[in-house]
Amino acid sequence: MGGPLVKPVILIAAVYLILKFVVPNIPGSAPLPSSLIFLYLILTATGIVIFGTLSGESKEAFWGPIQRFLTGEGIGALQAARYAVLLLFPLLVGWQTFGSTAPSDQPPAENRTIHPAPPGEYTGLSNPVPKTPENIMQGKGFYAAFCSPCHGGNFDGKGPAARGFNPPPANFSDPTTIAMLQESYLFWRIKKGGVGLPIEGMPWKSAMPRWEVELPDEWIWKIIMGEYDGAHQSPRTWE
Ligand code: HEC
Repeated sequence: MGGPLVKPVILIAAVYLILKFVVPNIPGSAPLPSSLIFLYLILTATGIVIFGTLSGESKEAFWGPIQRFLTGEGIGALQAARYAVLLLFPLLVGWQTFGSTAPSDQPPAENRTIHPAPPGEYTGLSNPVPKTPENIMQGKGFYAAFCSPCHGGNFDGKGPAARGFNPPPANFSDPTTIAMLQESYLFWRIKKGGVGLPIEGMPWKSAMPRWEVELPDEWIWKIIMGEYDGAHQSPRTWE
């Protein structure tokens, strides 16, 4: 064991450290997936092997120490190291294989269309209920009664019943939910709930109830006003 193997090990370690810790910190880039890092490491190792075996001389310098190490020259510490490698390597491969094939309790990643287009009859509807403080207050009351168990008393999607739903109840204080939607869109979503979602973007598995069976339209419009007011958002308009 000597010089020839030290450089490749340092090189591989350096590539790993750069990909893992330096690249994600470059402005505008994201952490690399571990599968990609693994691929780059394999390519680096392949390059090293090719480079190390280019000529007969470098081949001996490259494989010689590995071969001598594995075929049992030397005693004492070297022998212990050999047994450690022979034991650890199969264990590592076994652990890796187990890790990649064992069933996991993580939900599978799903692409879903968060905001599918509403049916035509809902587009452009405007809220027929006047925006008076009384109506907004009443809407908030309905919200507290019907919606807050899932969408949260703070409109943050963290109600007491929210845990365990996937997709999670929408967080109305997040600017990517109701702030980018029109009131007519909310009216549709609240009326029809998860079961009313179009086929596009399936599977939905949304726990959002279909409120048209319980709440009159007027209440829904009031809830929409209370929801925007409470979440400190305003509906999207085309002006
Ligand atoms: C049983 C839990 C539950 C209750 C109760 C509930 N929701 Fe939901 N809601 C959800 C879930 C889960 C989603 C996310 C999936 C989806 O978009 O259907 C959602 C989504 C929504 C969306 C869509 C937001 C977006 O960005 O597209 C609106 C609007 C909404 N809910 C309003 C309400 C209102 C108003 C009430 C009360 C009348 C209510 N919800 C009650 C579970 C619930």
